Amino acid sequence: MAEIRIRNTNERISGEQNVKAFLDKQEVLYEHWDAAKLPEAIQEKFILSDEEKAQILSTFNQEITDLAERRGYKTWDIIALSDATPNLDELLKKFEQVHTHTEDEVRAITAGKGIFIIKGTDDVGYFDVELEAGDVISVPERKPHFFTLMDNRQIVAVRLFIETEGWIAHPFEDPSFQKA
Ligand SMILES: [Fe+2]
Repeated sequence: MAEIRIRNTNERISGEQNVKAFLDKQEVLYEHWDAAKLPEAIQEKFILSDEEKAQILSTFNQEITDLAERRGYKTWDIIALSDATPNLDELLKKFEQVHTHTEDEVRAITAGKGIFIIKGTDDVGYFDVELEAGDVISVPERKPHFFTLMDNRQIVAVRLFIETEGWIAHPFEDPSFQKA
């Protein structure tokens, strides 16, 4: 289950209902898939063949098409990151810049962990959403955010897009952002 950490106060929010209520208020979509549906052999696998990626997509076909129909996504794929990813450190450095997109950024975590750092309403400021397998999140269009890995540095996620170009990152310079 996802957990929230509010950066200004270090307050943590846990429990599905509390997390969902908080994210609803911040206009961030949060849903849950049953990650245990995945064949055990690929539940903890972070280097994936094309066949294994296709297997993940077919396992969650119903969840994906349901989400796509409700929210207008037209294409989807799998992203897998781990220490085996070439240039992972460089990649993460690039990821860890606050930015926006012209469409929402939706990720369904199927293995591993990750964090979205999101700029909330003025009273909240930046908050972290720590995600694990089964968590589905969508950061609204034009909402400043970035994504990074957690200490275990491995994740597999389904990405869904309305248009591929909608996902281009536009840097968001924010003097109020504090890294920790
Ligand atoms: Fe993004």
